[in-house]
Amino acid sequence: QRLVVLISGRGSNLRAIQQACASGQLPARITAVISNRADAAGLAWCRDVDLTAQVIAHKSFSTRADFDRALAAAIDTHNPDWIVLAGFMRQLTDAFVQRYLGRLINIHPSLLPAFPGLHTHQQALQAGVRWHGASVHFVTPELDAGPIIAQGVLPVRSDDTPESLSARVLALEHQLYPQALGHLLRGDCVLERGQTRWRHAY
Ligand code: GRF
Repeated sequence: QRLVVLISGRGSNLRAIQQACASGQLPARITAVISNRADAAGLAWCRDVDLTAQVIAHKSFSTRADFDRALAAAIDTHNPDWIVLAGFMRQLTDAFVQRYLGRLINIHPSLLPAFPGLHTHQQALQAGVRWHGASVHFVTPELDAGPIIAQGVLPVRSDDTPESLSARVLALEHQLYPQALGHLLRGDCVLERGQTRWRHAY
């Protein structure tokens, strides 16, 4: 199956997904990486490993709708089965989300529905939760509110800082994202009437 991965920065989840494809853990191929920022570190890595990468700079467009239309046109040239957001830091318009509904996936660094938005590790520490983690979910128009596909959990330590927590959650994300994509690629679950429907018991 064909994946298009959207990034804005470091691209460590992109690397984890690419490794899962290369090792055969995922029956998939990344056909293109698209970044909204030319300075994304993940793009330099794409050049090193010969992955097709493209920049669609959101700053070149005057409206979100125009940017999303250009993004969709670029995505469609690769004819992907799945559109994978991996640290893609732009809110997408309803029209974009509807176009790819059920095939558009995101990873978020918290146990959703807790702590949507930014600074999730700081939010978790402030709230005093004892467990934290990451969630992979279908993207729906409301930010970070789509049906959950997979979650990874870890204990919060009394001496954690946003940085230490973030590092442990990121390592968890690198396991979780390929695992969640595996479920989707095998057809274990689908988005149906606004919910994740599992085809088998787990
Ligand atoms: C990850 O923490 C992801 O959950 C969030 O943005 C970060 C991206 O990191 N959406 P990377 O670019 O994959 O290294």
